[in-house]
Amino acid sequence: MLAPRAAARFGRYLNPVLSAISGNSGFTKVFVRGEGNYLFDAEGGRYLDFVSGFGSVNLGHNHPRVAAAVAEALRTKAPGFAQSAINPYAAALAESLIDVSPPGLEMVFFCNSGAESVEAALKLARAATGRSGLLCCQGAFHGKTLGALSVTANPTYQRPFEPLLPDITAVPYGDLVALEEALATRQFAALIVEPIQAEAGIITPPPGYLREAQRLCRQTDTLLIADEVQTGLGRTGLIFACERDGLEPDIMTLAKSLGGGLMPIGAMLCRRSLWREAYGTVHRFALHTSTFGGGSLACAAGLETLRVLKEEPLVRNAAEQGERMRAGLMLLWQEMFDSIGEVRGEGLLLGLDLLPIRPSIAAHWKRNDATGLGEYMVPGLDKLLENIQSVYLMQTLLSSFGIYTQVARSNPNVLRVQPPLGIEPQEVDHFLLAVGTLCRELRKMSAEMHGMITKTAIGMHDSK
Ligand SMILES: Cc1ncc(COP(=O)(O)O)c(C=O)c1O
Repeated sequence: MLAPRAAARFGRYLNPVLSAISGNSGFTKVFVRGEGNYLFDAEGGRYLDFVSGFGSVNLGHNHPRVAAAVAEALRTKAPGFAQSAINPYAAALAESLIDVSPPGLEMVFFCNSGAESVEAALKLARAATGRSGLLCCQGAFHGKTLGALSVTANPTYQRPFEPLLPDITAVPYGDLVALEEALATRQFAALIVEPIQAEAGIITPPPGYLREAQRLCRQTDTLLIADEVQTGLGRTGLIFACERDGLEPDIMTLAKSLGGGLMPIGAMLCRRSLWREAYGTVHRFALHTSTFGGGSLACAAGLETLRVLKEEPLVRNAAEQGERMRAGLMLLWQEMFDSIGEVRGEGLLLGLDLLPIRPSIAAHWKRNDATGLGEYMVPGLDKLLENIQSVYLMQTLLSSFGIYTQVARSNPNVLRVQPPLGIEPQEVDHFLLAVGTLCRELRKMSAEMHGMITKTAIGMHDSK
């Protein structure tokens, strides 16, 4: 009923640019239904979801147990919000979260999004330590509210909103020497870090980096904030990605799939001593709050999500199917290392880094161009071809193979491979076959394009 006018309304009232680039270019759809690993359009077309709401649909769409838990809370007329009262759903979810989280985390603050959980973490770190400095990593993504944006060390997102928070330093991700040097100043309340930088293009740190970062933080009385908003809740084949390194962060942020793909909810978990230091008096206990944080429906969804993750073999499946996917993508990389730069990530948070067509075309032109026209044309061509391969992949995966994908926003040459955790082996194989076919097509097209450009450049040379 809503579908026919959705695209026009979206373009008019929400975001005309997004509507134009994704709708007209055909790499997204008006989805009207989601079930398990699939999204459906109004015409009944079925699409395997390889985006999973950027990590918010780990359980698949409309997981029946989460939907039933929310329906049950509604049936029993649980009060949606009753501020300053004790909410049984919030209390139970906090306990369940602490049960599954790394040792040392004993207190929870509920909010409504990933960025809000990061805000809560940054504020707690400053209030508990009395230090103002915050350390983050270059390329990081921690959200877009002003505080979270200040540690989202990406100039594209930051520049239009400057000045941001003061006393923020960004060090290269994975660089322990730079980290040690920064921490030695002892001016930082905390280091905030993603176990895998997802938005930056699924970047994994060198082995041992996180453990050593934790050691250096402890040595300099700096808190470690693990941002598990995207990596958490089974995505990497573990409940939390930081388990792999045996990390015991002082603060952890969560959101996305905590709402089971149905409700918005975020959480900040921390050590009891930090909470006491920051908020543990009658004058301070309400310094950081959120009207909607810890609402009954969101917490009911969160509680059931944790039960599902415990009782259904989703996390194990993420590890197994992640391995199957990675092995298939590595075979493709071996065949096509001239077109695919790298396969990165863990579990079902993988990225296929496509090499730009551009440099080799530009090189071709330069070698063959005697007219000087190349110098004039190449920058325009560069722009045109910048992300052409990932756009082609997204479009054709959707239209010819019924697979919905997206790229990493800060690194659009990286195709995200991020299906729900319950993906089946035959669905993994369908994706591998599709992506292999299209990468081979792309390589052929790229070769033809080279030929065409070389011919044009030689033609120009001859006619000179
Ligand atoms: C690691 C990380 N932190 C924080 C956020 C912000 O979450 P939200 O979009 O819910 O504010 C994201 C979102 O992608 C994220 O990936």
